[in-house]
Order: sequence, then structure tokens, then C-alpha cells
Amino acid sequence: ALWLGHQLIEDSIVRQDYRAALTFIDGSTGGGEVATTATNELRRGLSELLGVQPLRGPGEAGAHGIYLGLRGRSARLDHYLATADVPDLGSEGYHLVYHDGDVLLLADDEPGLLYGAFDLLRQVQALTDLRSLNRTEQPAYAHRILNHWDNLDGTVERGYAGFSIWNWHQLPEYIDQRYVDYARANASIGINGTVVTNVNANSLIFREDYLDKAKALADIFRPYGIKLYLTARFSSPMELGGLDTADPLDPAVIAWWKEKVEEIYARIPDFGGFLVKANSEGQPGPWEYGRTHAEGANVLADALAPHGGIVVWRAFVYSDEAGRDRFREAYDEFTPLDGRFRNNVLVQIKNGPIDFQPREPVSPLFAAMPRTPLMLELQITKEYLGQGTHLVGLASMYEEVLGTDLRPTEPGGEVHQLISGIAGVSNIGTARNWTGNLFGQADWFAFGRLAWAPQTAAREIFAEWAGLTFGRDPEVIDSITQMLALSYPACVNYMTPLGLHHIMNTGHHYGPGPWIDDLGRADWNPYYYHGATRDSIGFDRTSTGSDALSQYPEGFARRYADPATTPEKFLLWFHRLPWDYELAGGNTLWRELGLRYQLGVEQVGEMADIWSGLEGRIDAERFRHVSQHLAIQQREAEWWRDACLAYFRSVSGRPLPEGVPAPP
Ligand code: GCU
Repeated sequence: ALWLGHQLIEDSIVRQDYRAALTFIDGSTGGGEVATTATNELRRGLSELLGVQPLRGPGEAGAHGIYLGLRGRSARLDHYLATADVPDLGSEGYHLVYHDGDVLLLADDEPGLLYGAFDLLRQVQALTDLRSLNRTEQPAYAHRILNHWDNLDGTVERGYAGFSIWNWHQLPEYIDQRYVDYARANASIGINGTVVTNVNANSLIFREDYLDKAKALADIFRPYGIKLYLTARFSSPMELGGLDTADPLDPAVIAWWKEKVEEIYARIPDFGGFLVKANSEGQPGPWEYGRTHAEGANVLADALAPHGGIVVWRAFVYSDEAGRDRFREAYDEFTPLDGRFRNNVLVQIKNGPIDFQPREPVSPLFAAMPRTPLMLELQITKEYLGQGTHLVGLASMYEEVLGTDLRPTEPGGEVHQLISGIAGVSNIGTARNWTGNLFGQADWFAFGRLAWAPQTAAREIFAEWAGLTFGRDPEVIDSITQMLALSYPACVNYMTPLGLHHIMNTGHHYGPGPWIDDLGRADWNPYYYHGATRDSIGFDRTSTGSDALSQYPEGFARRYADPATTPEKFLLWFHRLPWDYELAGGNTLWRELGLRYQLGVEQVGEMADIWSGLEGRIDAERFRHVSQHLAIQQREAEWWRDACLAYFRSVSGRPLPEGVPAPP
């Protein structure tokens, strides 16, 4: 059900009003697949909400209902358009309005009808007064894509919700109902693309039988306005094609990709394109042949271009060059390539320069490639954030990232203004509730909503999700909204306060490990990222250190150059400071660190208290599920606090700050 539960309106008088206003659905849509989905979803959702099936329109004289259709196809809509000034709605936008007793849903192309239908259902679920409806919506970006890190053997890289939902073994014949439910859920929040395979890619996906399987999925997704994408392993021409090179400038390699792409489009005419991780963490790439990322990407782009496909090329790169600050690497490697990529290539950048930490400053690359369309990559699965166990409402983090202004001295420098699309690393798996931790659903939901409208407030999304998921009880909605709003600051406090980062235990990245410093590569060691000694802690990224700060626009960097003006939440990301360094509030760094860890623990306690207050107001099964997870989170927040402080005490030789309880 996810957020599509569509609870019957409890109050019979209110229900009656909606029934009277929405007696029929009249669709003048041209009858395409996506428009048909829109009508079907409306019919299904409204019968669940109202307890009756709306008629097929237009119904009896004097009756009121919903007219949906494309501009110029319906007398009723055109009658309205004669007096109203509705702008061009693009291929996915819609206009939803109350007019002369009817609800009108208007679009210029079919996907708009689909998104408008789901919007209308959300409004009815929230008991919005239909007479107030007057919304014109268009997505901020054309690319709103989920990235599944799903392997063909059914495992999921950094997946905490069971196995992959794609059953490659039984495709293409067996179509799991989940595929349809998945498409519905995504369409309902505006997601319009999905990469179904892991970035650590397997070339097997390009074998003909696997392409048939992929086609079966694409056929399911299409009526929901969702395009299928695949990850492309750069060495596929060798592994699958039997060539002795994957050099992107080799004519045989160029021909191989061209032909492969043709095979794909013969099956999937609206195929989205490729996502590529190359020369990163051991993945093959153009470097093996002395070629650049741009040369590599362009060969794939040229093969896709005639069919309308895109290449999304990831900028997640770092090497083990001694003494190099990993923070700097993507920028150093990619900025010289700005302007060298074909038009249908987008460079995909993780929100932060290191790797999905609980909190990172945004990557400087977002402001450094003006001639290349960029995608923001967010994690929905919570690799470094407590995985499937901790409740952490990621919308807060997304909001912070999207709203960061990298060019504070001029307009247009907020991250959401610098990108052309958003990708989210999926947290979906075979778990009964899709995401393992029930609250993981909120992160999937938030991703979709923000990819559509990146300036939506996290709080608004929390409340909306809570209402759609748990029903209309305002106390339940308020409590869950509060919990979610508290959860992200809590996690940062008990894991990585004041700008600590990458101190999770190695490999699995679960739980604390700041003491680890004996791994083969410097930048794999948590110790590398804080370097605590008896005197000081933190990573100097100013001009006296790695100077990564100079990768940011001047107006942004200025504030971060001085610890006194650096926002405290990013302090140790940019500065190495003595334990006695005095913070604005008067505490020493050491004391503040201790208090933050303690605060994080207390905030989890507060979340658990809020949740306990909901007993009896929500069903017992979900109540228990969340309570049990919160109990683990509470214990593990304490674990984080105790382990990190014990370690930092041992290094600094300082006693526990007053106000922080001694470990048992
Ligand atoms: C992280 C993660 C890997 C993943 C990689 C990526 O390093 O731990 O599992 O493959 O990111 O984004 O490519």
C-alpha cells in the first residue's frame, strides 16, 4: 500500500460532499497508455476514498465530476480555457482547478494527466476543499531517476530491505505484481526513470536473453510514465563482444556499442540510456586506454543519440595517491573536461565530495561545470546513516543540500538551480513493506517529491507522508512529523557532530570506528578523516592544508576559511583545531563534542517518547515494528556516544565533559 493506502473518508457527511462533487470521470485523453493509467488510478483511488466507484462521465445533467484531458481535445476544458490563461504545461505538467462545480485536470501531454491524477487523490485524502483547487505544476527537472544498486544474482549492494525485487531468473515470462505496484508508487510521486542494475555493473545484462527480460520490465513501467535505464560496464565489448579492447576510440568498439544500442531500442523504443561508473573503485573505464572520461562517455552518447537516449556518467572517483585529499579528486578530475561531453551526457555527482556521510558540505563540482548538465546523486538507502535500522528522515538532508547556495554573492547559485536532474540510490527490496524499516518509505517518498519540486520544505513532506501513510488523525500526523524532523539532527549528533566524517567502521560502514588506521589505503581509514592527537582534531582543508576549500566559488569559500565564521556543523570538515578551541557559545571544542553526542542520544529518547504516545492510535503491527527499531536505535546512539568519546578521551587525555554520563 505504501502511501497509496487511500483510507475511506470516515466522516459520512464529508464523504457525501466529495461523492456529490465527484460523481463521474470524463476523460478526453486520446486514449494513450499513460492517460489510461491516469483515469484508472483516479477511478481506483476515488472508489477507495469515497466508497463508491465514480461513473464514466459526463453523467446526468446537473451532475458534477472530473474532466480530464489534453488541451484542445475536450469541449468542457476548452470552455474553461477560453476564459483562463493556462501557460504551456510542457510534457509532464498539469493544471488542476475547480471550475463551475467541476474539477478540471488539464495537460499538454499524457504524463501530466497521470501526475495530476495522483495529486488530486492526495488532495482528497487530505480532505482539501475542492473549491480551493487551483494548481499549475511542472517538474523542476526532466530527469527524476531511481538508481537500483541491484545485482543480477538478486543481491543488493548497500541494500537493507532484503533482496532485489527484480527476479531475473523468471523474467521475462513471470511478471511479479510487485513490478506494477512499484511503477504505481513511483509514478505517484513523479519519478520518471529507473536504472534497474548496479553501478558496479555486469555486462551480462547486455546479452540478448537479459535484454528480453529488461524489455519485460520496460513494458510494465511505460504506462506509468517511467523509462528504463541500464548500467553499462565499460569493458562489455570485451567480456560480451569478444573484442580484445574496450578502447573507446577503437572503430570496432564504437561499432559494438552502436549495434548493442540498436538491439536495445529494437526491444525498448523509449529506453532511457546508460548510467556508468568508470575508473572508480576498480571499475573498468577509458583510463586503461589513456582516454578521458569525456572520450569514454561520448562513444556511448553517440550510440544513444539517434534514439534519444542519454548517458549519465558518474563523477564518484578517487584514487590511492598518497597524500592526496580525497575531497579534491572529483573536482580535479572533472573540471578540465567541462564542455568536452556530448549534449546527451549528464555528469552525476554525489551530494558531498566524500561519500554519503550523515552530513557533508556539498560537492564544489556543482558550481564548477557550467557547460555540462549535472545530476545530483542522493542516497535513499542509508549506508552510513544507520542502514535499515535507524529512523532518519532524509528529507531534512535533501533540503539542506538542495538549498545550499554555492554562490552567495550572485543569483542562481543554489544547488537545485545548478542541476538538470536528480538520482536517488534506492532503498527498495523484497521486504514485505518494501524498505525494511517502515520509515524508509518516507525517504523514498521525499526523494520523489523533492525531485519534482526541490524547494518543498522537508516538514511539509514529512506531514504529507504521515497523513498518507497513517491516516488523518492530526495528532498522529503532528507526532510523526515531529519525530521525523528531529531524527536527522539526532543522527548527525550521535554519529558525526561538528563536522566529523567517515568514522564508521570499515567495509559495512555500520557503527563507530574512528580508531581504525591500519588499512591498506590511507583514505579507507576512518582515522585519516579526523587525525585526532593529544592536541587537536579535524581535517585542515584551508590553504594551510589540502586547500580543497579553494575549489568553491570565492564568495562561498570565504566564510569557511576562518573557523570563527565556519558554520559549526562543518567545523571539522575544514579545520584542524585544538581541543580547547573556544566555540561561539563559550564551550571548548572538546566539551561541545561531548555534549553533542549526548544530545543525539537524548533526541532519540525524545523520538521514542513521541512514538510511545501513539500507542492505540495506529495499528499494533506498525506500532510494534517502529518501537522495536527505536529501541535498537536508542541503544546504538549510546554505543556511538560511548565508543567515540572513549576513544577521543584516550587520544586527548581529557576527562569526560560534565553533563555526559560515564559509560556503564
Ligand atoms: C560507496 C559504496 C559502494 C558503492 C560506491 C559507489 O563507496 O560503499 O558500495 O559502490 O559508493 O557509489 O559507486
